Amino acid sequence: MDKKEPILKINNIEVKYHEVILVLKGVSIEVPEGGIVALLGANGAGKSTTLKAISGLLKHEDGEVSDGSIEFMGERIHKKRAVEIAQMGIVQVIEGRRIFEHLTVEQNLIVGGHMRKKGAMSVKDRLDMVYHYFPRLKEKRKEIAGFVSGGEQQMTVVGRALMTHPKLMLLDEPSMGLAPLLIHEIFEIITRLHEEEKISILLVEQNVKLALNVAPYAYVLENGRIVLDDTSEKLMENEDIKDFYLGLTDVGGRKSFRDVKHYKRRKRWLT
Ligand SMILES: Nc1ncnc2c1ncn2[C@@H]1O[C@H](COP(=O)(O)OP(=O)(O)OP(=O)(O)O)[C@@H](O)[C@H]1O
Ligand SMILES: [Mg+2]
Repeated sequence: MDKKEPILKINNIEVKYHEVILVLKGVSIEVPEGGIVALLGANGAGKSTTLKAISGLLKHEDGEVSDGSIEFMGERIHKKRAVEIAQMGIVQVIEGRRIFEHLTVEQNLIVGGHMRKKGAMSVKDRLDMVYHYFPRLKEKRKEIAGFVSGGEQQMTVVGRALMTHPKLMLLDEPSMGLAPLLIHEIFEIITRLHEEEKISILLVEQNVKLALNVAPYAYVLENGRIVLDDTSEKLMENEDIKDFYLGLTDVGGRKSFRDVKHYKRRKRWLT
């Protein structure tokens, strides 16, 4: 990987919910400065938990990092509160497009602008930046967020995260439930954000083909453990990945992995 110190270093963390439910059992992940890394894995593997451990949102669900450490730009953050972590420049786009449905698209964005006030940019400048990347949101800015399309809602939540002008963006399944064209559009914007705004990205995706196309490096999480990590190029040739993910995404055309995974018995990555 990169010779520079990674922007994010997760060192062998263990995560428990309610002090007894052990969900992550020794997870180590590195995100290089200015890099995109994908985190893959089946339902319930612990992907969202990993992101919440980084952003500090875990604490709101009575979860804790009970062992190991998380370092962001050389500083230990796993004991910090979510607000402090956000102030440092980490933002999480949580699963499932949580917007404020009764507010307008623009009001939703402004909420993000107030999440992290550090830096010289005014809320107005931040809005302009978001509208530059998401011209569609500019068109829809006065509309009630609950009534815009699913794709526009997803753009709104990514835009809201961008309003914090983050250094590291944690994206939890941004393609979920969206039509292929929209997925393509959103990922193109995410790639531009990464290239032009130099935002480092940790991407959780069920759409493995997509994730491996966007991220040059990926980790596979299974049952709370990292069972595989490699360049996306190598992972695309990996038989387990092909069989478990890439094969499945092709079956039935547009069917997402989430639709079929409930019917397929979990397969061990390493035997
Ligand atoms: N607040 C919580 N309290 C107790 N257990 C939880 C909590 N949140 C998640 N879990 C458990 O932790 C495990 C991992 O959940 P997590 O949401 O991290 O998985 P995931 O990989 O994101 O799955 P998905 O693909 O369905 O989003 C699951 O067994 C889940 O039931
Ligand atoms: Mg999840």
